[in-house]
Amino acid sequence: MSDVLYPLALRLDGRRVLVVGGGAVATRRVPALLDAGAQVVLVSPEVTPALRALADAGRLRWLPRRFEASDVDGAWLVQVAVDDRLAAAAVSAAALERRVFCVRADDRVAGTAWTPAVVRHGPVTVAVLGGGDPRRSMALRDAIRAALLDGTLGGGEREAEPAGRRGSVALVGGGPGDPELITVRGRRLLAAADVVVADRLAPGALLDELRPDVELVDASKIPYGPAKAQEEINRILVDRARQGRFVVRLKGGDPYVFGRGGEELAACLAAGVPVSVVPGVTSAVAAPATAGIPVTHRGVAHEVVIVSGHVPPGHPDSLVDWRALGQLRGTLCVLMGLKHLDAIAAALRDGGRPADTPVAIVQEGTTAAQRVIRGTLASIAADAARAGVRPPAVVVIGDVVRLQDRYE
Ligand SMILES: C[S@@+](CC[C@H](N)C(=O)[O-])C[C@H]1O[C@@H](n2cnc3c(N)ncnc32)[C@H](O)[C@@H]1O
Repeated sequence: MSDVLYPLALRLDGRRVLVVGGGAVATRRVPALLDAGAQVVLVSPEVTPALRALADAGRLRWLPRRFEASDVDGAWLVQVAVDDRLAAAAVSAAALERRVFCVRADDRVAGTAWTPAVVRHGPVTVAVLGGGDPRRSMALRDAIRAALLDGTLGGGEREAEPAGRRGSVALVGGGPGDPELITVRGRRLLAAADVVVADRLAPGALLDELRPDVELVDASKIPYGPAKAQEEINRILVDRARQGRFVVRLKGGDPYVFGRGGEELAACLAAGVPVSVVPGVTSAVAAPATAGIPVTHRGVAHEVVIVSGHVPPGHPDSLVDWRALGQLRGTLCVLMGLKHLDAIAAALRDGGRPADTPVAIVQEGTTAAQRVIRGTLASIAADAARAGVRPPAVVVIGDVVRLQDRYE
């Protein structure tokens, strides 16, 4: 038998694929088949809860019995995902007889097709065959993925998809500070950028990885007041995109959580510049999480409210009903709340929130400089002042704060 394989990519959309076996291997293989649009028929007396959920949702057809040779009829491809070699051999024999390609998880050499280790990078799919050694193929695949993500390997993907095309803007959520907490898509677009307009709170370490020819605009250094600066940022986004460059607006956390992402989107749309949004991990949830505070917890908090404290309670510009928030039992995550913390805590107490409600302040969450100050709704403003807490910080209010002792 020749060791030379002929690589192919299969169009499985609407085509039947038979999967035999309902354990861990099938659980890993089936989602990719479904993603490719295959009509999956799964034969196995037992299945994992994940596969059962797919069957219950009508995403695949489960036949809860043992394999019969006629199951192969009508299939374009067979995936054998059982450990029992005799049972697997019976499936591949039935497939061979009907000239249907068959992948064997138990013994790849005994199959008539192999599945490669795969990395998808935007429109590009890289499939690696390691000459029968899955560790080799996976190691190589991982190295290729890393190189694609940091831009060392260029994919030419910009022309192929709307996000990343020349003359367009992507509003990318950079995550809360830890450079590993940007999304895969965000990182990929950043590596493809010609211009990066970065926020003060965007993870700085990501900027270190930019190619030397990338124009970096530090939005925090734009020398006007906040309103004017936003206009200037909008102008730069539109201007650079009109020069035919791909612009990434890199923002801290999520672009739409107190990030003015909507305004930038509107400015691009008004100027006729194609724009896309890549959501990010918001500090409102991630900073408490890395401090060991889950913002919801069964039996403790069934609601979480993310609120901005940039204007104090009672201020004519405030859109927040602090007294109503004082009525809640769940978790409040206050962003930009340090300056008016005393007034915010008082308004919540006035609204009915008990003075002994636990509060944590997570400063510079997810970064190496992260620190956490604990207190109560009565004491937290004084605690913060004493500890010299500085922005950026998330103030977490509610009983979930007590869980930190258990989960940190
Ligand atoms: C203008 S808002 C932007 C929020 C951002 N869009 C997000 O989703 O995280 C800035 C505020 O976010 C919070 N923040 C951002 N990064 C933070 C971090 N690493 N640790 C704690 N708070 C952070 C602080 O309350 C800060 O004042």
